[in-house]
Amino acid sequence: MSPKIAVLADRVADQIAAGEVVERPASVVKELVENALDAGASEVRVELEGGGRTLIRVSDDGSGMDRDDARLALTRHATSKITDASDLIGVATFGFRGEALPSIAAVSRFELETSADGRTGTRLRVSGGKVEGIEDAVRRQGTTVAVRALFFNLPARRKFLRAPATETRAAVEALTVLALARPDVAFTLSSDARALLDVPRVDRRIDRVHGLWGRELADTLLPVELREAALEVTGFAQRPSQAKPAGRKGYVFVRGRPIKDPFILRAAEAGYRSTVAPGDRPSLLLFVDLPGDAVDVNVHPAKLEARFRDKFFVEQMVQEAVRRALVPLEAAAPIGGSGGDMGPWQGIGGALGGGVPLELFPGNGGAAGATRGPELLQVFDSYILFQTDGGVAIVDQHSAHERVLYEGVLHQLQGDGAPAQRLLLPLTLDFTPPELEAIDEHRELLRRVGFELEALSGRSVIVSTAPNPHPRFEAARCLQELVADLAGGRFGGWANRLERFAATYACRAAIKAGHHLDPDEMRELVVRLLTATLPAHDVHGRPTIVQLPRAELERRFGRS
Ligand SMILES: Nc1ncnc2c1ncn2[C@@H]1O[C@H](COP(=O)(O)OP(=O)(O)OP(=O)(O)O)[C@@H](O)[C@H]1O
Ligand SMILES: [Mg+2]
Repeated sequence: MSPKIAVLADRVADQIAAGEVVERPASVVKELVENALDAGASEVRVELEGGGRTLIRVSDDGSGMDRDDARLALTRHATSKITDASDLIGVATFGFRGEALPSIAAVSRFELETSADGRTGTRLRVSGGKVEGIEDAVRRQGTTVAVRALFFNLPARRKFLRAPATETRAAVEALTVLALARPDVAFTLSSDARALLDVPRVDRRIDRVHGLWGRELADTLLPVELREAALEVTGFAQRPSQAKPAGRKGYVFVRGRPIKDPFILRAAEAGYRSTVAPGDRPSLLLFVDLPGDAVDVNVHPAKLEARFRDKFFVEQMVQEAVRRALVPLEAAAPIGGSGGDMGPWQGIGGALGGGVPLELFPGNGGAAGATRGPELLQVFDSYILFQTDGGVAIVDQHSAHERVLYEGVLHQLQGDGAPAQRLLLPLTLDFTPPELEAIDEHRELLRRVGFELEALSGRSVIVSTAPNPHPRFEAARCLQELVADLAGGRFGGWANRLERFAATYACRAAIKAGHHLDPDEMRELVVRLLTATLPAHDVHGRPTIVQLPRAELERRFGRS
C-alpha cells in the first residue's frame, strides 16, 4: 500500500515551524527582547524561573498594541515591520518575519498583556497555539509577555533542555548581546528572583561594556574607528598584551544586528598581526555599518547571519580598522588604577600621527641648538623612562628594540636585504643535524639579514658576514639562538614564513635587558620606536611601552 499524503493540521505545522525560531529559553528571550526594542522600549525587564522552563517573562515600556494588533500579532506572518519584499532591503528593525510570537505561543502557555495608551489594555491567553481568552487589562503603556511551560506539548523537545543553570546562562548571553547593541536602553534580568544583569541606559558604548563585564575588561579595550566610503567599522579591540588563549569575547554587529560571522572575527584577528602571540585570542566588539543595500540580513532562520555584497572589502576594512587601533601610543598599557581614560598621550600621539617625532627628539641627526626633547633615564639597565605631556612613559629596551628590528627586517626580507659587515675573523660554529637542515632551509633569509654562511665539513659552518643591529651585538650567540629557534619551530603559530623569520631574528638580535645604554643610544631607540608602525607592542604580545598617567600620580599623592 503506498503511503497516503495528508496536509498537516495548521497547529502541527506551526509547532514544526516553531522549531526554527524557538530552540531553547534563550531564543525566546532573544525574540521577545528584540520585539521590545523594535517597539521603542527604553527599559526591558526579563524574569526567568527554572532556567526558563517554568517561566520567561519580558516586560517593556514600548509602544504597546491595541486589541486588534494584539490579536494579529499571534497570526503567522503578521508583522508591522515590513509590507513587501522590497522593504527587506535596509530593514532596520530586528524583526521582519512575523513568526516569533506565533511560534512561541505554539509551544507554550502564553500570555500577552499590552496597552498602547496606558489606559485601556488587553490580556490575551494562548495555550499550545490555541487562543483561550481575550480580556481587558489595566496596565501602563507597553507590553509584557509571559511564556510558561515551554515545550509542554513537545515532550521530546522539553527533554532536550539542559540544566536550569545552563539555560539561564544562555539566556543571559542572549540578553547581553542585545544590551551591547543598544546602550541607550536599560536592561535587567533576574533568575528565580536573583538579579543576574542590571545595566542602566548610558551614552557611551564603553560604559555599557563596563556595566556588563566590569572595569577590568573594559580597561583593556582600545577604541576602533574607521570610515571608508560608505562603510564604518567601530567598536573595541583588546590590547594585545591582554589577549589570552581562552575565554575571549568576540561579537560582531552588522547594521546594529548581532551576527555570528567567524570570517569577520578572523579578519579582525589578522589586524593584530605581529602583536599577539600565536594562540592568544583578543576580545573584539565590532560594529560594522554600511548601507542597507550592501548587505542581506534575510539569510538565516534566526537572522544570525548576513550576506555582504562585497565581503572581501568588508573584511579588509575590519582588518585595517583593528590594525589602526593598535598604532597610537594610547594603545600602550596604562599602569596604576586610572585606566579607562585613554588620552594621556597627547604629546607622543600627536608626534606619531604627524610623523614628527624627530621634533620631539631633535637631538637625533644633529639638529643643532634645538632642545633635545625630554630627558631620558635608564633604570636597571633595562628600562627607559621619560616625561610626556600626559605622564611618564616607561619603555622596555629589549621589547622596544625587538619591535623596531622586526619592522626593519621584514622590510629587508622583502627586498634585497641589509648591508652586512664582513667579519675580520670568520666564525666557525657547530650545529646539530636538525639545525643544519634549518640553516639550509633559511639560507637566503639568513643572507638577507646579514649572515653569510658556508658549510665547512661535518657539522661546522663558517660565518663570513654578520649584521650589526647594535654595538653590543654578539653575532655568534645570536646566530646560534636563531638557528635553534628555527629548528625547534619557535613562532610556529605564525602562518607567514617571512614574518616568522623576522620575529625570530628580532627576538634574538635585539638589545637585551641588562645592557647599559648611553644617552644617544637611548634616544635613537626611543625615536625609532615612536616611528615604528605598531610601536606599542612587541612580537610576543607584550607591551613595549607602558604609561604612568600624571593623573594617577596626582591621585596617589592626594593632589586630585
Ligand atoms: N513588545 C512588543 N511591543 C509592541 N508590539 C509588539 C511587541 N511584540 C510584538 N509586537 C507586534 O507584533 C508583531 C509580531 O511580532 P513577531 O515577533 O511575531 O514578528 P516580527 O517581530 O514582526 O518578526 P520576527 O518574526 O522576525 O520577529 C510585530 O510585528 C509587532 O507589530
Ligand atoms: Mg519579532
